[in-house]
Amino acid sequence: MLIHSAAQLLTLSGGPQRGRALGTLGVIENGAALIRDEKIVAVGSTDELRAAYPDEPSLDTSGCVVMPGFVDPHTHVIWGGDRAAEFEMRLEGKHYLDILAAGGGILSTVRATRTASIETLIAQTRPRLLRMFATGTTTAEAKTGYGLQTATELRLLKALLTLDNEGPLELAITFLGAHAIPPEYKDDPQGYTDLVSKTMLPILSQWWQTHAPRLPFPFVDVFCENKAFNLAQSRRILEKAKALGFPLKIHADEFDNIGGASLAVELEAVSADHLVRTSQVDIAALGKSETVAVSLPCTPFGLAERDYTPAQEILDAGGILALATDCNPGTAWCESMQFAIALACRYLKLTPAQAIAAATINAAHAIRRANVIGSLEPGKQADLLVLSVPDYRHLGYRFGTNLVKQVVKCGRVYSVDVGYYRTA
Ligand code: NIG
Ligand code: FE
Repeated sequence: MLIHSAAQLLTLSGGPQRGRALGTLGVIENGAALIRDEKIVAVGSTDELRAAYPDEPSLDTSGCVVMPGFVDPHTHVIWGGDRAAEFEMRLEGKHYLDILAAGGGILSTVRATRTASIETLIAQTRPRLLRMFATGTTTAEAKTGYGLQTATELRLLKALLTLDNEGPLELAITFLGAHAIPPEYKDDPQGYTDLVSKTMLPILSQWWQTHAPRLPFPFVDVFCENKAFNLAQSRRILEKAKALGFPLKIHADEFDNIGGASLAVELEAVSADHLVRTSQVDIAALGKSETVAVSLPCTPFGLAERDYTPAQEILDAGGILALATDCNPGTAWCESMQFAIALACRYLKLTPAQAIAAATINAAHAIRRANVIGSLEPGKQADLLVLSVPDYRHLGYRFGTNLVKQVVKCGRVYSVDVGYYRTA
């Protein structure tokens, strides 16, 4: 199929974009892309590609932007229940970590998740994934972490594998057994740290090889934060995970700076995420590393907080910056990368071009898939978006509505055009 006549086709070619190189879109005006089966075969001008492939079935994208599908590299998209009541408590002045310390917050979602069957979890997660897909996310990372006991964590993994298999949204799975200290270990956080590192991780390794032998190992992530896992506990879990061959991620500096980002760099983690209270030392370490700095602007927005990721400093230090939604029931129930981009333009002071690169090629790098997705280049998976706008800067500029007209996933076209109601 020849996708042609795009007002602007954004290739994002050339690999992950470090530091001030962020924002290199590779714009082709009157652009076209040839896709066959699941892959991109050629990218260029409409005139060139039409001449080279005259008999191809075609998709006219006149007046539209064509670009790679968004990659959302940080979500907690599978959970039971909701936290609408907690949202109201926070508006009345209660702090997120105090609610958690009192047994609410993440732990209230843990209670709802533990009692939910796998069928219920799948049924409640599927529409979230479909909303992500309809707003242009073609691949998303998805974490466990609302089980905090072996059986429930494995149930979440199984549900995520089922949903990934079902498609169309593709998932990159992460084990976040270290998301909070569960109530039964309230007075023994070290005991739970040992359970995760000595028992859960070896079980996970075995389980994965049996249930998903063809997939790469999942990521292992830790919520490194006061009132969650301190630096020593985070190190212990991540070192064990690394020794078992798992790629690493970390939640660092969401509320306090306790050194999680530097730990991530030291352990060669794939990404360090949140990064709101990140110190100069941590920023410098990230800037010199391959660890992707994943910013989640929906989270401070969702918590109505003032501070966001110091993105400009991370770019000045040479860091690889990516964007994600953090979609979760507590801090940021947001399925839309378009909204994350709109926030990043305002609060991280990214240009639309920088935010787009952070949400595509760099986001793909944050889940180690930049070799297959994140840009429109021959040989890559045919995951792309047709946006009903003539200029890429409408991303960021506009917010709260869906600019996606069509999503192409592995070469298949899905229409998500704005519907309208007709009365008789
Ligand atoms: O990334 N910080 C930890 N995890 C989530 C919030 C999870 C929740 O509140 O349920 C986050 O913000
Ligand atoms: Fe998170």
